[in-house]
Amino acid sequence: MAFVVTENCIRCKYTDCVEVCPVDCFHEGPNFLVIDPEECIDCTLCEPECPANAIFSEDDVPPEFQNYIKLNAELAKQWPVITERIDPLPEAKQWDGVKDKLPHLFR
Ligand code: SF4
Ligand code: F3S
Repeated sequence: MAFVVTENCIRCKYTDCVEVCPVDCFHEGPNFLVIDPEECIDCTLCEPECPANAIFSEDDVPPEFQNYIKLNAELAKQWPVITERIDPLPEAKQWDGVKDKLPHLFR
């Protein structure tokens, strides 16, 4: 099992999550972060840190976000590791909570 970043991270990318991860399993894309499921040790620390409530344990991923389980695994192989918090995207507040953001995901 692993933790999974889901839709509400898109266009927000607050990055509070990366600071607490003891095994550096977050990978950064242009406007989204993913967790490498092969590295995640299920420590649970990142989940409460996300201001956008985008992180779920794999077992608790809501039905509408099930596709993000595969997406995290796939994009973690392509994107570089991020270990330090950076500024959120400038439009983060505006996009926090907006539905159906998947078409806005840049790869
Ligand atoms: Fe990292 Fe722990 Fe979150 Fe997994 S659950 S991504 S190990 S902080
Ligand atoms: Fe994304 Fe939340 Fe981390 S918005 S970058 S999963 S703190």
